[in-house]
Amino acid sequence: MDMEKFIKNMPKVELHAHLNGSLSTKTLLELATLEYGETNNEFQTICRNFQQNQEFSLDECFKKFPIAHALTTTKDGLRRALLSVIRDFSQDNVVYLELRTTPKSTTKMSKVEYLETVLETIRLADSLYPDICVKLLPSIDRSKGIEMAKETMSIVTEAMKTQSDLIKGIDLSGNPAISSFDEYGKILSDAKNNNLKLALHCAEIDNSDETYKMLQFGMDRCGHGTFITSQNLNIAKEKQIPIECCLTSNLKCGTVKSYVEHHFKNLYQSNHPVVLCTDDPGVFDTTLSDEFIIAQKTFNLSTKDLELLSLKAVDVSFADSVEKEFIKQKISKYFND
Ligand code: IMP
Ligand code: ZN
Repeated sequence: MDMEKFIKNMPKVELHAHLNGSLSTKTLLELATLEYGETNNEFQTICRNFQQNQEFSLDECFKKFPIAHALTTTKDGLRRALLSVIRDFSQDNVVYLELRTTPKSTTKMSKVEYLETVLETIRLADSLYPDICVKLLPSIDRSKGIEMAKETMSIVTEAMKTQSDLIKGIDLSGNPAISSFDEYGKILSDAKNNNLKLALHCAEIDNSDETYKMLQFGMDRCGHGTFITSQNLNIAKEKQIPIECCLTSNLKCGTVKSYVEHHFKNLYQSNHPVVLCTDDPGVFDTTLSDEFIIAQKTFNLSTKDLELLSLKAVDVSFADSVEKEFIKQKISKYFND
């Protein structure tokens, strides 16, 4: 079997994907047609251009999310979007998915309803797509301010009373150029005390003071970690903080210059725990298979490397021990049969 096919068929683990960034152009067009009818050409054009913008900057990438957000303001839209995303990951042979999303209040739905709809839909997907296990990491959007973050935490804490089998951790994301981490420390400590793991976007831009504070604060996994260098790298290594590497996302946002120069290489070669992730497969027009194929070709990974990367992803996931064992068996069987 050729390598690309081998990777496509490989059971994969996705630990860093944002719901509204994961909608493919096809799904956006389907949702737009249902929402606005066949004749809304303007929105159809926007959807078609979704992945075409070649201007690589973090700010340009952040301008794309409102397109998806406009189509997930109703319970029906959100449900359809989430089912499409889970289907797409499952079709890419992702067997375990930790999906993130920021609960939002819209004119049609409260934040509580947003979270409830997401959780209900994940349970529904369990019967529709039985080969994939989906968990949720509610996101705190750092660009929306501390009051919004407190509200999110209180809703999540309430939901945890009955849905702790699905809600596994908290993500801190949003435009990293906006607001400072200091404001969020107390809320994230509360999350930790409530048995939630922390997956924090950190060092996505070059801000070594903030990166230092975040690494000292601690986290269960670090999103991106692009600009973790020198002393901060020592801290990340001492604490063995796993880093979620999103190759195409970083390239298309302009935070790394090329695949070859991606920090994945040094981290992997120095035996630091790393995972390959998509971040926003819809926005960046990628899949987890594509990311593995790119990594395999760029860094000359062997099938043994692919197996070790996949098993490491299970280790650093927020699944429980029985789930971890089950996924590891699937992966080992694929590599060793
Ligand atoms: P949502 O939370 O389901 O609406 O997914 C989209 C959101 O994820 C965006 O509005 C951002 O807040 C966040 N996001 C997606 N990609 C990134 C990233 O690379 N860095 C920081 N935040 C991101
Ligand atoms: Zn992200």
